[in-house]
Amino acid sequence: MQAAIRPEATSPEVVVGLIGCGVMGRGIAQIAALAGATVRLTDSREGAAEAAKTELMATFRKLAERGKLNAAAVDAAAARLHPCKGLPELAGCHMVVEAIVEDLNAKKALFATLENLLGADVILATNTSSLSVTAIAAGLKHPERVAGFHFFNPVPLMKIVECIGGLLTDDSVVDYLLALGTHWGHVAVRAKDTPGFIVNHAGRGYGTEGLRLLAENVATVPALDAILRDTAGFRLGPCELMDLTGLDVSHPVMESIYQQYYEEPRFRPQGLTRQMLAAGTLGRKTSHGFYRYDAEGKKQPI
Ligand code: NAI
Repeated sequence: MQAAIRPEATSPEVVVGLIGCGVMGRGIAQIAALAGATVRLTDSREGAAEAAKTELMATFRKLAERGKLNAAAVDAAAARLHPCKGLPELAGCHMVVEAIVEDLNAKKALFATLENLLGADVILATNTSSLSVTAIAAGLKHPERVAGFHFFNPVPLMKIVECIGGLLTDDSVVDYLLALGTHWGHVAVRAKDTPGFIVNHAGRGYGTEGLRLLAENVATVPALDAILRDTAGFRLGPCELMDLTGLDVSHPVMESIYQQYYEEPRFRPQGLTRQMLAAGTLGRKTSHGFYRYDAEGKKQPI
């Protein structure tokens, strides 16, 4: 890889292309803009990038009301967010972060398209929870600029980011993401390109064992969550966590880690979450998952 011409991670000249303005994309855009980067927002869903900016501005105003931001910072962060109509408007970015659907082929296709639009030294970062960075980069002309940049939900509160190099990733790319994640206010850690990286590998048992307890009728959903949350020191019970993440993310993550570990029994997913995915009961984002949620997001047992 040629020595890349990109601003220091701490520079206000950094321009980030953010692809996928869902839960994670909005969170990443928030911390990047507040840290001084320019963020161009895109999404394949009509109007999603504009809606993301509107929502982020409301968030900035709330932070200001609580005394966490001053008016000048709100205006400056809002001015750094630029909704775009499509991928060609990302030309000129120093890096992109994709937070689209957790699907290997979709992510590969996106990066293949970006290769034709962006210079060879523009970093292509993926927020994948579980897919192999090496596999996402496979077949690209420049796999050395692809890396994982894995944030957690909710991004502004979960102050950790895993920075992951694939087999062919240039070390300087991971170093840049480590510096950027740190500048954006997170603890940035280097992780290897293994299924689930660090957090989703270590944490897998929490979800899969929780689902096994439900399948064996050991406890109801509220009882399981209450016991693990209130006695074992977890912030959320396993079902509350899956509802927050979204079954459209957590089920594919479970399947992906299980497959990548050659069907290791301890990672085996359960049919329940596959059915919930099929039924579209995805958790908080559809107001119905393991619980039902009212307009204020308050949960009710089913
Ligand atoms: P989401 O469903 O809230 O947002 C995904 C967004 O991407 C949607 O707005 C959708 O319209 C857009 N999109 C889908 N395909 C696209 C494409 N080909 N081009 C452009 N935009 C496209 O999903 P969420 O939860 O934000 O997850 C996104 C990624 O982040 C996934 O890879 C997921 O594994 C990862 N992740 C999710 C976490 C979570 O707790 N939800 C935690 C950490 C990572």
